Amino acid sequence: MEMKRIMAACRRPARVLAITSGKGGVGKTNISANIGVCLAASGRRVLLLDADMSLANLDVVLNLGSRYNISHVLNGQRSIRDVVYPGPAGLGVVCGASGLEELADLSEFQRRRILDELSQLSDDHDLIVIDTAAGISRSVVGFCLAADDVLVVTTPEATAIMDAYAMIKVLARHECKGRVSLVVNMADSPAEGKKTYQQISNVAARFLGVHVYDAGTLLRDDRVGASVKLREPVVLAYPKAPITLSLAALAAKVDSGANVGRQPTGFFRRVADLFF
Ligand SMILES: Nc1ncnc2c1ncn2[C@@H]1O[C@H](COP(=O)(O)OP(=O)(O)OP(=O)(O)O)[C@@H](O)[C@H]1O
Ligand SMILES: [Mg+2]
Repeated sequence: MEMKRIMAACRRPARVLAITSGKGGVGKTNISANIGVCLAASGRRVLLLDADMSLANLDVVLNLGSRYNISHVLNGQRSIRDVVYPGPAGLGVVCGASGLEELADLSEFQRRRILDELSQLSDDHDLIVIDTAAGISRSVVGFCLAADDVLVVTTPEATAIMDAYAMIKVLARHECKGRVSLVVNMADSPAEGKKTYQQISNVAARFLGVHVYDAGTLLRDDRVGASVKLREPVVLAYPKAPITLSLAALAAKVDSGANVGRQPTGFFRRVADLFF
């Protein structure tokens, strides 16, 4: 009965984009925050969810200083609406918890609660961007499998490439229904980014039978680190910089992918399928 109520609340669910990676530190949080800001600035109702339960960092990049976060929703102290913080350009942000157990280990009550709460937010947003933790843990893979789009972030580094491939492989094994795209971050040149994309997409096509979409390349740029120090997304701190144009282009690409290959069932229905 609970499921019926959740599904009724999900008639026009927000599209869900999971931003993930195999290796840590490749730029997921910065990419999530910046494309979230770009899309919010273009009028989309965007919610950014920090789903890293062990090391929250979106609030640092966005300088939110949040008092409440997803952990207070999970323990029943707050409803999700109470923990949505206003970010730049009208972006809504749900901050992550630090040192919380894996989503996979949550109790049945907590899982129902987060589903129920998230489905409420789904109704009044166009897009929910989930900044996941790195690696192929059950909770990360669960979010990716339930999303409409998965954006896998890598760098041209060999270990990051191998870990990105491992992530795509796990998604393929679980018959991921969402569209899988790859963005190559911190490349030294567009050619290096393209080469990295081709390496991964060729192997994925050949050995996994998966088409990985090309979400483009972001060059290494010291302004990203500088903007983190300023605690402002780079697209706002350096609006005219080439990295800002590239991030805006990535946001437009993500946005134009809306409804491509979208499943008739919404995110929360698919999360529910995983859990119940
Ligand atoms: N294009 C870029 N050029 C230069 N530095 C970058 C770029 N993108 C990200 N960085 C830097 O890389 C570091 C990691 O970025 P970020 O925190 O976004 O990665 P992450 O994938 O979210 O990490 P984690 O796996 O720990 O959550 C930060 O110091 C950030 O400033
Ligand atoms: Mg991060």
